[in-house]
Amino acid sequence: MIILNVDQTKQWMVEIHQRMDEHKEQLTSLDQAIGDGDHGTNMVRGFQEVVHKTEDTDYENVADVLKSAAMTLTAKVGGASGPLYGTAFLQMAMSLQGKDVTDKAFIEAMDAATEGIQSRGKAEFGDKTMYDVWFQVASFLHSEPYETWRDMLEVCQAMIEDTREMVAKRGRASYLKERSKGHIDPGSMSSFYIFEALVAVLDLEG
Ligand SMILES: Nc1ncnc2c1ncn2[C@@H]1O[C@H](COP(=O)(O)OP(=O)(O)O)[C@@H](O)[C@H]1O
Ligand SMILES: [Mg+2]
Repeated sequence: MIILNVDQTKQWMVEIHQRMDEHKEQLTSLDQAIGDGDHGTNMVRGFQEVVHKTEDTDYENVADVLKSAAMTLTAKVGGASGPLYGTAFLQMAMSLQGKDVTDKAFIEAMDAATEGIQSRGKAEFGDKTMYDVWFQVASFLHSEPYETWRDMLEVCQAMIEDTREMVAKRGRASYLKERSKGHIDPGSMSSFYIFEALVAVLDLEG
């Protein structure tokens, strides 16, 4: 069963942008607490550029939409999150190249994205970064049948809450050492909006 086509992938980008825009202040204040306060702006600007780029372009397949998004994020977002999300979408694209996007193919693509974030940012699980939620969600998708796509949002939310008591080991928040405790990781929160937008566009009914 194909769960994502070209139009849905373009719509995914629109839905991500909407969510980043709606939650811009939240992402900004999370990043003000343990970073430099630019995460909301980075996400809104980055995904606005992605929507500009993808909305009026004709793509042959899902992988090409994702590649376009990846290149835009890497080029247009100044913060660490741009190249990290750029790598995630690029690896997803590579993994889906030449395939129909079935649930199995997409779960593999989520793995590829997660590994991409890890190899680009060098974070380990528990370092209080977006890698924590990508790893947790990708592992969950492997262990559960595809009917549970929606449950991945709950898994993600629980992991976001777990980042609160972690000490940051990567990114700007790591400069704060112990003082990074008590706040959730901004990139984990923005990752949630990416997954929430995905669930909104996936064809789960068949
Ligand atoms: N090395 C890394 N590996 C994985 N994720 C990282 C790394 N460094 C930063 N991040 C993620 O990026 C988020 C910060 O993004 P952003 O504020 O846009 O960039 P910057 O930190 O450059 O200001 C963090 O909350 C964290 O989730
Ligand atoms: Mg920042």
